[in-house]
This record gives sequence, structure tokens and C-alpha cells, in this order.
Amino acid sequence: MGRGMTATSQPHLRLATPADTAALADLARRAVSAKFQHLYKPEDFATFMEAAHSDAKVAKEIADPGMRVAVIEEAGALIAFCKLVLKSTLPTGHSDARAPLELKQLYTDPARIGGGLGARLMAWAQAQAEEVGADEIQLTVYSENAEAQRFYHRYGFAKIADIEFWVGNHCDPEFLYAKPLVPETNGLSKSEQV
Ligand SMILES: CC(C)(COP(=O)(O)OP(=O)(O)OC[C@H]1O[C@@H](n2cnc3c(N)ncnc32)[C@H](O)[C@@H]1OP(=O)(O)O)[C@@H](O)C(=O)NCCC(=O)NCCS
Repeated sequence: MGRGMTATSQPHLRLATPADTAALADLARRAVSAKFQHLYKPEDFATFMEAAHSDAKVAKEIADPGMRVAVIEEAGALIAFCKLVLKSTLPTGHSDARAPLELKQLYTDPARIGGGLGARLMAWAQAQAEEVGADEIQLTVYSENAEAQRFYHRYGFAKIADIEFWVGNHCDPEFLYAKPLVPETNGLSKSEQV
């Protein structure tokens, strides 16, 4: 392979396209099930999965101009992803942010956890947040998910509120996390700089 060509076997981060729908929904269902399925009654988990991770839902998210979905692909397979909602839909009143962006889901293929894919997605999410002028990144994490909390703390997130997360008819205690984004300069927005 000549210089300048992309090695397709290397993990490659890109925006999701409609053609990714089935593979992305499949990865999400496998990753979410591996981490959380054992915690719930089958009917509650099935209701949640259909609402949050069906092919139809994923297709809608990829097509949504208010969202950005990134995937990491390796050798034709999707191995990690995250979803951003440019205007956060998370509970308000817990921070002073005026333009928070929501990091909706962040998952690595269970076989690839700990290999740096999450770090790449987090760097991408942060760059996107800066590009759209967000002043905070917000997300939610299950109160018992200590591993993910450790991951988020590493990137400067902190808990700002106790909230709830529903899985079918089951309500879990959930944490609202936020990371304020510090403007690069002295308060002037990029468009105001000369
Ligand atoms: C959280 C997650 C997306 C991070 O992606 P990743 O590709 O593993 O991230 P990296 O390799 O860049 O970072 C590894 C760090 O992630 C954290 N981590 C989260 N879950 C982990 C797990 N099950 N095993 C090991 N590390 C985990 C640790 O802090 C780890 O740091 P360490 O190596 O110092 O122990 C990934 O671990 C994952 O998919 N976890 C299960 C699903 C989940 O909990 N998602 C978040 C929902 S809010």
C-alpha cells in the first residue's frame, strides 16, 4: 500500500451513514446486553432495547440533523460508537450551561474494551462540542457503573445531580455528569476574534 492510502484494517473513526444502520444497531445491542442485561427482568430489558436500540431508532438517529453519530470501523466491522445530541435533552437546572451538548451513548465492542477506542471517541466528542459552540458536555451514567465513571472522571467529568433512568418498568438511580468547556480565549467567541 502506497503512502497516503488508508489502511482499512486500522481502526478508523468516521461519521455513521444510513448504510451503517444494521451493523450499528447490532453492535449497540451486543454491547448494552453484555454490560447490563443481567440486571433486569427480560420483559423490562426487551422493552428498553426495542425503544433505544432497534434498527428503526438507530436509522432515525443517524438521519437526525440534531445529532452526530460516530463509529470506529476496523476491517469492515464496527467496533465502537458514540452518539451526540447537539442540544442536550437531559434534565435542566443542575448547571449554569447555556448550550450543553449531550453525549448519549458511548460503547466499545465488549471484546475490545480497554484498547483506547473510548479515548478516541471522547476526543472526537470534545472536538465536536467545541465546533458547535457548546459550553458543556453532559451525559448520564448508571450509579453502579464504576468502570464507566472512572473513564469519565479521567476526562474531567463530575457528577452534578442524581436522576432516574427507566428500563421498561424498572427505575434505576442514575448520575448526571457534566464537563464544562473552557473557552480557548478570553471570552470572545471565534467569530468575534480577529
Ligand atoms: C466506557 C467505555 C466506552 C470506554 O471505552 P474503552 O474503549 O474501553 O476506553 P479506553 O480503552 O480508552 O479506556 C479504558 C478505561 O475505560 C474504563 N472502563 C470502563 N469500563 C471498563 C471495563 N468494563 N473494563 C475495563 N475498563 C473499563 C476504565 O477507566 C479504563 O481505564 P483503565 O484502563 O485505567 O482501567 C467501554 O469500556 C465500554 O463500552 N464499557 C461498557 C459499556 C459502558 O459502560 N458504557 C458507558 C455507558 S454510560
